[in-house]
Amino acid sequence: MKTHRAKLVAKASLGGDIMDFRFELDRGRFIGLEPGAHVDIHLADDLIRQYSIWDWDHNGTWLNVAVKREREGRGGSIAMHALEEGCEVEIGEPRNHFPLQEIDSYKVLIAGGIGATPIAAMAQFLANRDREFQVIYLVRSKADAAFHPVFSEMNLEDRYILHCSDDAGMLDLVHLMSTLPAGAQVYSCGPEPMLNALLSAAINLRGGTVHFERFAAASDMDHAPKSGFEVEVSSTGAVYPVTENQTILEVLQENGHHIDVGCAEGLCGSCMVDVLEGEVDHRDSILSPEEQATNEFMCVCVSRAASSRLVLKL
Ligand code: FES
Repeated sequence: MKTHRAKLVAKASLGGDIMDFRFELDRGRFIGLEPGAHVDIHLADDLIRQYSIWDWDHNGTWLNVAVKREREGRGGSIAMHALEEGCEVEIGEPRNHFPLQEIDSYKVLIAGGIGATPIAAMAQFLANRDREFQVIYLVRSKADAAFHPVFSEMNLEDRYILHCSDDAGMLDLVHLMSTLPAGAQVYSCGPEPMLNALLSAAINLRGGTVHFERFAAASDMDHAPKSGFEVEVSSTGAVYPVTENQTILEVLQENGHHIDVGCAEGLCGSCMVDVLEGEVDHRDSILSPEEQATNEFMCVCVSRAASSRLVLKL
């Protein structure tokens, strides 16, 4: 996958454990900078992390990502926070699994914590085009609201609500969903419990759709039972067994197939492969139910087979 050599030209605290990073290109430009897009940042040979972009210039020469330092994380946020201004990293071309659709329909953008990054980009995009929308930013306390100044600067007035649970309790998502205009499109990014509550409440939407992006794999998928199956590589006809303790990605790599890998958690889409035959047991967190139902592609880092064999276009 194409990458750009980019320099960290500015690093600033947004408050709490959240840092903002601006990366700039000396030459070339990023293609595909749009709300909801993310980039792979290569922090070391085996440490590639995905971060949503929240600001960029229209010539494609710089972009900003904001990263929360996760002490219990897998090391990506700690490596990001250790970067110093002036250093250079490889950054992949932006990819978007969380695009704004049907720009003219009424939108409700719900951000939880650091999930504010794609939501801020969407809000700015819609505000610039004078579209109808509302932003709800859910945080524990005002001290945690790192993106509050960003949303405030957009002058959204009554289209912006900062909801602090220490003060106002948990937002009643069931009530919110049932009072939205018919056909409202909900876009949300935030921690898993918030997204799960939102998806449960979405049954009360009147004809609308919830679009969401996780930044951690859905834990119920981690614990779903696994069994063995076979994968066949279409170009060679080679068939490999995948045991219950292996992923398709591991088996393909062990047998010399190059697969792009990012998160290895079903969150980024780097490892997407076309499926020619067989039924997929999708366990990723990025494909929509409609995309999963096509059975035409899969994330081989986490997804498995629901049939005895999958034939992959490799
Ligand atoms: S590597 Fe990220 S979805 Fe598979």
